[in-house]
Amino acid sequence: MCDKNPLIWARLLAWYDGAARDLPWRVSPARRKAGERPDPYRVWLSEIMLQQTTVAAVVPYFYAFTRRWPDIFVLADADEAEVMAAWAGLGYYARARNLLKCARALAAHHDGVFPKTRAGLQSLPGIGPYTSAAIAAIAYDAPETVVDGNVERVMARYHAVTTPLPEAKAALRALAQRHTPEMRAGDYAQAVMDLGATVCTPRGVNCAGCPLCRDCAARARGIAPDLPYRRRSAAKPHRRGAVFVARREDGALLLERRPGTGMLGGMVGWPGSTWDKDEDGADLTDSCAPLEADWRELPDEVRHSFTHFHLSLRVRVGKVATDVVPRVGKFVPEQEFCREDLPTLMRKVYDLAKNAFDPV
Ligand code: ADE
Repeated sequence: MCDKNPLIWARLLAWYDGAARDLPWRVSPARRKAGERPDPYRVWLSEIMLQQTTVAAVVPYFYAFTRRWPDIFVLADADEAEVMAAWAGLGYYARARNLLKCARALAAHHDGVFPKTRAGLQSLPGIGPYTSAAIAAIAYDAPETVVDGNVERVMARYHAVTTPLPEAKAALRALAQRHTPEMRAGDYAQAVMDLGATVCTPRGVNCAGCPLCRDCAARARGIAPDLPYRRRSAAKPHRRGAVFVARREDGALLLERRPGTGMLGGMVGWPGSTWDKDEDGADLTDSCAPLEADWRELPDEVRHSFTHFHLSLRVRVGKVATDVVPRVGKFVPEQEFCREDLPTLMRKVYDLAKNAFDPV
């Protein structure tokens, strides 16, 4: 524990007792003190969903998943296509494939019980250093240090760490470790994350409401809102591609399931070209079309940003006969098609194409 500031955990826990966010996967500090234990299944599911995703975006998905798949055995029995469809819109789809693999491994080899140690947890698909620490701390109160972006920010500010990220990562982790208490480790982990999400936020600071304000080094130096510094990252590259939306006379739409690996792996989408680097004059011909049709290119492109690149997709639409046989993909009858089963990029394509087929 930190010698100079031995009580920051006590102050954080006292703050959390009164200010903890009410989240559907969380056992409140009062209920926790009364002896209620978090369900490791819900802790795991929430932590996987929360990676790279905001609490606000996750909450409706968490409710939908737990309603449909209330425990690990029910999820282990689920159909992969249904899990992928239920994840659609949340992004980072490898998480959903690993979620199912993990549920199946737990059901098959661990009697459906999550291991209690970080090492045991990390032997499971999709569970890395962050998630293993979060599950061990939150579900089992193991004194593990959970470090996400919120925790890095709180540590960088409290200790006025001016080394930019990502170089500062190891130092911030070491500081976070020094503050982690032996008791109430789950509440403590969530307290620091809540402080970072609600008080010591990326875009501002509410020092008056902060339990660490009186000895926060960045506040004393007037640099709290600017920390953590970040090394300027290279601009995202731009890629381009084309997609084809074929609609049969009976309203069926041509969709394909993307390969299990790669971008949007395992998700359903519109067939099309690969997404290549932005080269002047790059020619996306009809050679990647899924069938012969009188394709019409729409005037607007679809734009979408992934973590590592921006994408522009040209959209071509075609009306085809009911007996046409596609080279790739499968026609999905109109009444079975569900826009919400598509990842966000493919929803954008659908919205544009639908308007071209049926202008409003
Ligand atoms: N972000 C990721 N996991 C969280 C949790 N358990 N509580 C609050 N914010 C989080």
